[in-house]
Amino acid sequence: MNVLIIGSGGREHALAIALAKSRSLTRLFITPGNPGTATVAEAIVLDVADHSAVVSLCQLLSIGLVVVGPEAPLVAGIADDLSAAGIACFGPGRAAAQLEGSKGFTKDFCRDFGIPTAAYGRFDRMDAALSFVRAKGAPIVVKADGLAAGKGVVVATTLAEAEAAVRSMFDGGFGAAGAEVVIEEFLEGEEVSFFALSDGERAVAFSSAQDHKRVGDGDTGPNTGGMGAYSPAAIMTQDMSARVMREIIAPTIAGMRKRGMPFRGVLFAGLMIGADGPKLIEYNVRFGDPEAEVVLTRLESDLLDLLFGCARGCLPEGTPQFSNEAALTVVLAARGYPGAVIKGSEIRGIEVAARLPGVTVHYAGARRDGVRLLADGGRVLAVTATGKSVAQAQSRAYAAVDAIDWPGGVCRRDIGWRAVARERAHSLPRV
Ligand code: AMP
Ligand code: GLY
Repeated sequence: MNVLIIGSGGREHALAIALAKSRSLTRLFITPGNPGTATVAEAIVLDVADHSAVVSLCQLLSIGLVVVGPEAPLVAGIADDLSAAGIACFGPGRAAAQLEGSKGFTKDFCRDFGIPTAAYGRFDRMDAALSFVRAKGAPIVVKADGLAAGKGVVVATTLAEAEAAVRSMFDGGFGAAGAEVVIEEFLEGEEVSFFALSDGERAVAFSSAQDHKRVGDGDTGPNTGGMGAYSPAAIMTQDMSARVMREIIAPTIAGMRKRGMPFRGVLFAGLMIGADGPKLIEYNVRFGDPEAEVVLTRLESDLLDLLFGCARGCLPEGTPQFSNEAALTVVLAARGYPGAVIKGSEIRGIEVAARLPGVTVHYAGARRDGVRLLADGGRVLAVTATGKSVAQAQSRAYAAVDAIDWPGGVCRRDIGWRAVARERAHSLPRV
């Protein structure tokens, strides 16, 4: 089968590497791709927002499956338009993509189907929202309803901060995404990214990861798309995973079917594991980035068979298999990220890094200029390594980071700290 991947990040590089291993694959295409995907997939130039152009190209190249990396094309209905033309697409249609595209939709959905999540209110008027936060007090969480590139959430520790967030959202600080605001209870606990694949009827767990969203060491500074991750998340024991499937994923898949908008694709649940069990923070309708880099690096099952099964409503029997090894990825970002960055600085030494044991360098916002590799975005590389423990994966990943010569790049130095501390505590002799 010929496959087309849509996207250009580290996530899509990881998807390309995993799909390239499939026995069912004939040719692998990617649009637009990046310098890393060039070794496993053929890059094509295409305006993804032009759905009829995507359909025509798929027909021309006899594409049997389109795999959509980011959420925007899904929210724009690319899966609907491909399906209407008889082309299988991994990723939900526009209606089901509301699980990510509208926080208000998801909160109401959770209420209707008894899915555990933070208590909340939805507001389209500033005065009502302000009265609500004053009545509830801090800490409290203020969210713009629509897609805001991961920046539409303010976890307010004081009432003044909460009021300022409400005002800035209604004053247009987040564009159209802030026309409606969701305000919710602050959840305490440990955050985890949990993945499940679904064909609309059945769902299977697809491992877990822990992301590091803040830009700075010690989880400080502004939120980002993710500065590093590891998989699996230790808190996701078999029992906890089964509980999440039972209490959160299964009722979601059943509820979406009941609503006439079956969910086919990967359901990425951002969870808070607290004293009274798992609660849903948010859904995404695509793989996480950098979570995909670590989860897919550990995958042993055939990814193409799984994704095609989801798209066609016939997920293969059994559960996807993952290596018992840990994987950890460190994001190298251009200085200034998540604010404005300077593009065009040169990166050297990737070949040396990639030869180190267990290491894969996933490319993201980078481009080639002849033989030179140049930074071309915020998150530029995701340096990934496997190991027998998170500690080993971490030391291998940082050895690879240190082999890369890029003065314009920065990274966190503590990716995996929580898991490494846990491993240390467990290996201490008990007295
Ligand atoms: P979201 O975009 O909804 O994932 O929110 C971004 C981040 O804000 C999450 O990854 C959490 O760290 C934090 N967050 C969101 N909602 C809550 C909540 N109700 N309680 C505590 N933290 C939250
Ligand atoms: N790393 C979080 C996300 O992809 O949304």
